[in-house]
Amino acid sequence: MTAMIAIIGTGIAGLSAAQALHAAGLNIQLFDKSRGSGGRMSSRRSEAGALDLGAQYFTARDRRFVAAVQHWQNLGCVAEWNPQLYNAHAGQLSPSPDEQTRWVGTPRMSSITRQMLGDLPVKFSCRITEVLREDRHWRLQDDQGEQHGPFSHVIIAAPAPQASALLAAAPKLANAVAGVKMDPTWAVALGFDSPLATPLEGCFVKDSPLDWLARNRSKPGREHGVDTWVLHATSAWTKEHLDLPKEAVIEQLHGAFAELINCAMPEPSFTLAHRWLFARPASAHQLGALADADLGLYACGDWCLSGRVEGAWLSGQDVARRLLEHL
Ligand code: FAD
Ligand code: NAI
Repeated sequence: MTAMIAIIGTGIAGLSAAQALHAAGLNIQLFDKSRGSGGRMSSRRSEAGALDLGAQYFTARDRRFVAAVQHWQNLGCVAEWNPQLYNAHAGQLSPSPDEQTRWVGTPRMSSITRQMLGDLPVKFSCRITEVLREDRHWRLQDDQGEQHGPFSHVIIAAPAPQASALLAAAPKLANAVAGVKMDPTWAVALGFDSPLATPLEGCFVKDSPLDWLARNRSKPGREHGVDTWVLHATSAWTKEHLDLPKEAVIEQLHGAFAELINCAMPEPSFTLAHRWLFARPASAHQLGALADADLGLYACGDWCLSGRVEGAWLSGQDVARRLLEHL
């Protein structure tokens, strides 16, 4: 059969692979269990505006990714973010300026994957439950019992624990993926009708349930209505409070925020909590991407590299390169 490639996952890794394969003239079909693209780079629409609950910003160190970011900047879906950065250590808040260039999607983080997706063929709200081998091709089964295919190749671009469940047909890959553990992160958004009286716009936190906090309005292109903040808990705190009800998570992280920030803290007029079960790899890996070229089955994602936006994009490029080498 002519090459027809299924890609499971429309996070930045899946879309990076999709763009490279499409550019090489191959037919692709994307699938995602969510209603839209972006995965951990998606943005949540809310009454307080769009909120980036996952990836907060990204850095670009590899020259290939630097070029991609430049391209997105030219297209208007990425801009530089220059926050007033702080450190909080042992309850002490101090400014922590640096020279690092940090990027965000604009007007929201999900703008990048929306741009990458363009009009590539995609099925949303479609959770793939099985990747089935049939003669010399593949079929995908979804959770509604529907089958998709045939496909000559399948790329799984989901977090490692979710990829693992789809790799039964390739024990070699399944074994490699099983070794990758991922940690969770509780994210909370708080909105205040009157802006908080603080110059702080982003903060790396230590010795607290919190790991990070950011002021949404400091990012380029965001609406300036309610003053919304995104708080991330540490992996350790999240693991200890994994099944806490959302209201209790909001209360505890709001409390940690109030303790940390040196300004009056009114009751928020808006609150929201989101639990990322597979937020980041527990340790760094140098896998690039995983391939069983004989079978035509591949896996990519941030967990193959740095556990960052850049790592996810590079892993998508790597998987596309490896697939093209074996056509
Ligand atoms: P994902 O974005 O997770 O995409 C995987 C996609 O696969 C999802 O859309 C999912 O719905 C889909 N999927 C999964 N299983 C199935 C299935 N069975 N069927 C169909 N679809 C499926 N990185 C940074 O560089 N800077 C940061 O500041 C930063 N902060 C972060 C904060 C948080 C709270 C989190 C959670 C992540 C953060 N990251 C950050 C990491 C960054 O978001 C990820 O590295 C990157 O977005 C991962 O992209 P990906 O494509 O590999 O995976
Ligand atoms: P980066 O270079 O801005 O940050 C890397 C790390 O360096 C920070 O986590 C922080 O500990 C430290 N740091 C950087 N600048 C600092 C400053 N001015 N003051 C004090 N400490 C500073 O960005 P990079 O390397 O691209 O990392 C991405 C970020 O994404 C990291 O902060 C990482 O923790 C976060 N992330 C969060 C996830 C989650 O689930 N919460 C998942 C994946 C990444």
